[in-house]
Amino acid sequence: MVTERRKPAEGLVFVHRFVPPEVKPESMTLLLLHGTGGDESDLLQLGRALSPDAALLSPRGRILENGAPRFFRRLAEGVFDMEDLVFRTHELAGFLDAASRAYGLDASRLVAVGYSNGANIAASLLFLHPGSLAAAVLFRPMVPFTPGKLPHLSGTSVLVAGGLRDQIVPREQTERLLDLFKRSGADATLHWEESGHALSEAEIQFARGWLSKLRFQR
Ligand code: MLT
Repeated sequence: MVTERRKPAEGLVFVHRFVPPEVKPESMTLLLLHGTGGDESDLLQLGRALSPDAALLSPRGRILENGAPRFFRRLAEGVFDMEDLVFRTHELAGFLDAASRAYGLDASRLVAVGYSNGANIAASLLFLHPGSLAAAVLFRPMVPFTPGKLPHLSGTSVLVAGGLRDQIVPREQTERLLDLFKRSGADATLHWEESGHALSEAEIQFARGWLSKLRFQR
């Protein structure tokens, strides 16, 4: 039996919120990617706390798990549906192209800020669409998959923020992801927080400082 490959839907297909930049039109755009059960409003406050000037683009994951929005399907806690993950990652990349055109965003200043499930799809985006993000802040990510061939991520900055007492993400996952980014040429920084899966104020301040030091290519 031949199964037809699904083609990702195109355009602004994610329910989303867009908040224009506060001051300068040349500001960066934070792509806010929520965790399981979140929505397009969830991380707006975090985005503003991370950067007072940035534009905010916040899509809602298109998968529902018992009513909880997610960015891709999983088979169990930490066990991902790989086919869906790849499909949804391409879909998100298409959405970013459409949003850049619709809102006049500078694609070279697009920075993902992902939490948990949102951090996992951001990591997948870095692996499958290495040119799509200038930088990424990943709070509590896992290794979404191990790429067969490492992407070229030189020129891309990544902050990986793990919780030392996280019950969902084992320490080894955080360290392995950092290693994959480093071996792909990214400027990758690891930050450990004395906390569990939830974010702490201290690491938000750390990420804010890290973001303020980013230098964009043009
Ligand atoms: C995931 O499914 O992406 C991770 O297990 C994180 C989560 O959403 O709990």
